[in-house]
Amino acid sequence: MNRKYRKTIIAGNWKMHKTPSEAKVFAEQLKSSLPRAKRCSIVLCVPYVDIPVAVKLLKDSRIAVGAQNLHWEEAGPFTGEISAAMLADLDVKYVIIGHSERRNLFFESDLTVNKKVHAALKAGLHPIICVGEDQDQRELGVTLELIAYQIKTALAGVSPEDMRHIVIAYEPIWAIGTGNTATPEQAGQVCSAIRGVLRKLYGARIARSTTIQYGGSMNEKNAADLLAQEDVDGGLIGSASLNPETFLQIIQAANQD
Ligand code: PGA
Repeated sequence: MNRKYRKTIIAGNWKMHKTPSEAKVFAEQLKSSLPRAKRCSIVLCVPYVDIPVAVKLLKDSRIAVGAQNLHWEEAGPFTGEISAAMLADLDVKYVIIGHSERRNLFFESDLTVNKKVHAALKAGLHPIICVGEDQDQRELGVTLELIAYQIKTALAGVSPEDMRHIVIAYEPIWAIGTGNTATPEQAGQVCSAIRGVLRKLYGARIARSTTIQYGGSMNEKNAADLLAQEDVDGGLIGSASLNPETFLQIIQAANQD
């Protein structure tokens, strides 16, 4: 983390977990035990149907609500899809774009990720853009090239002014939901390479002010070591965000000096 130049953001990604009633219980518990220290921003990316209850309960807290996906068109015949304007109207602030589960299970491409980034920015949302390699790609030694490509494509046409709304999440696929967390050095190395890509695209000032999270089996035990890396500015947390106690412990780790 480097709080001098950029925000530290701890974001939960609930994936397809928790009904609205369960979300209500979670939000109440989390709100009542939040630490006073405000050194990190907190986001909860919940399923679409949980958004109204999460926004209502977290309204006066410092926890922002995020979504996990959106469609790139403003409206139209896209059965089952949700637009950026619909999310913004509910007071959603962040949206995860290009999560590896969306890319792999729902066939999203780098090009649709780019369209979604533009749609989110147009509606005033903060995209959390996910990038990451799978096990084979890591073993082949193409991680950094692949990630550079994913970042460049996701950000194609994004203006320097809009970069202040962008969050990048480095999520190695081999670490997601597996318990095989990247070592702090591995996470730090790729996050710093991502900052290098941003520097080439947008210059040093924007690169150093962009929040780059790590995600992939981050939990209350390994969070402090991962966050101790200069270029790891927070976490995108799946499993460990489902329990308010473990999520709070990660928030506390991000609040340390
Ligand atoms: P995990 O998920 O923390 O359960 O590995 C992270 C993610 O997919 O964002």
